[in-house]
Amino acid sequence: MSYITIGRNIFRGKTTQISYGDQDRLRHTYMIGKTGVGKSTVFQNMCLQDIENYKGVCFIDPHGESIDWLLQRIPPDFLEDVYLFDPSDIEFPFGLNLLQAKDEQEKDFLVSECIQIFYKLFDPDKTGIIGPQFEHWLRNAALTVMAGPEGGSLIEIPKLFVDKQFELKKRKYLKDPTVLEFWSKQMAKTSDFHKSEMLNYFSSKFGHFLNNAMMRNIIGQHKDTLDFDYLIEHNKILLVNLSKGKIGETNAQMLGLIIMSKLQAAILKRAKIEPEKRSPYYLYVDEFQNLVTDTFASLLSESRKYGLGVHLTNQYFAQLPEKIKDAILGNVGTIIAFEIGMEDAEILSKEFEPFTKEDFTNLRKYNFYIRLMIDGKTSKAFSGESLKPNNISISNLTEEIIKVNQLARGTPRILVEEQIKQALA
Ligand SMILES: Nc1ncnc2c1ncn2[C@@H]1O[C@H](COP(=O)(O)OP(=O)(O)O)[C@@H](O)[C@H]1O
Ligand SMILES: [Mg+2]
Repeated sequence: MSYITIGRNIFRGKTTQISYGDQDRLRHTYMIGKTGVGKSTVFQNMCLQDIENYKGVCFIDPHGESIDWLLQRIPPDFLEDVYLFDPSDIEFPFGLNLLQAKDEQEKDFLVSECIQIFYKLFDPDKTGIIGPQFEHWLRNAALTVMAGPEGGSLIEIPKLFVDKQFELKKRKYLKDPTVLEFWSKQMAKTSDFHKSEMLNYFSSKFGHFLNNAMMRNIIGQHKDTLDFDYLIEHNKILLVNLSKGKIGETNAQMLGLIIMSKLQAAILKRAKIEPEKRSPYYLYVDEFQNLVTDTFASLLSESRKYGLGVHLTNQYFAQLPEKIKDAILGNVGTIIAFEIGMEDAEILSKEFEPFTKEDFTNLRKYNFYIRLMIDGKTSKAFSGESLKPNNISISNLTEEIIKVNQLARGTPRILVEEQIKQALA
């Protein structure tokens, strides 16, 4: 059992470390606060302690600064344990195929995640932009693309509806009677006009990713570079740099959502492992509001079964879908609140007695109120301050880590482009 420190409490001149251990951390941690109050820094400090404690971790960073900070501080022993996914490194793209599944159960999970991802990207409020018909076509098309020994990726989906040879080749491998019927009965009866209407619709959703070379070279590879089962099983360190400034907001969101889906698929399998044999796995998602689907909300409520400790942060509740907000307030063991606005203070002060709304809105930078999970129970609220960001000596193996990931894990761009050209031909 290991403990990590979140910050410190100073009360009547006495300083106490605010720490918690593995069992309590598996009940999850949520942090809220306005920009600049020190949230990302808290996660960085925690994640570095996890790394030093030989824990398996994944850190998803929407800005890239936390990843840069962590890279500079990776202890030399862990050099080869760091998997760095940096989509902006276009010369050695990692393959991230949402539609690569290891078994039937995972296949079903990933296909329903695929549908959820399209909702999240194009119709987050479920206003009908994506409806049951698109879902139906997408589900059948995804299952068809995945069929056969070569598998397939998202970017081949539009091709299914224009290339009869490709459709027939894939159909030969299908076993699922409902998918077979989709092609033999339903599609056979669908008019060309309706097909082309639907194709336009698909193209408008997939086109963005098909036409962007960086994205195509990542999500179009058939084989995943990262084996999430392996990473979790072997306590590896996965750093995901989704710097929006470098790769664009929609791309960052798409890749983040795929990573979250893949991680969840791997995590769900851990229910079968006996709890004693399962080491905790820690996930940090900074500015997480754009990267969670409804599936994640249900995972939060059950993930004690999986040995997953989730750390989430964002700026204000209104950024979150109602379902996610409720899942958090209902299931998270540890809540940390930095300075927040009146509306959020209204919600949180109810659970943070004796602190009042005004206490929350008047908090100074780097100061917070916390309800901490201690030995399976959430404590009363108390105050704390965060650790300074630069309290640990720098090893700076950034260059070496990047090299290992490019040469031993990524695939040279020319090879990837050749594969994708063939898949789309
Ligand atoms: N406890 C602290 N003491 C001093 N400086 C800090 C502390 N925590 C964070 N900082 C600094 O404050 C700035 C904002 O921190 P950051 O973690 O990025 O905030 P947020 O994620 O809430 O926007 C950064 O420059 C960071 O280095
Ligand atoms: Mg931040």
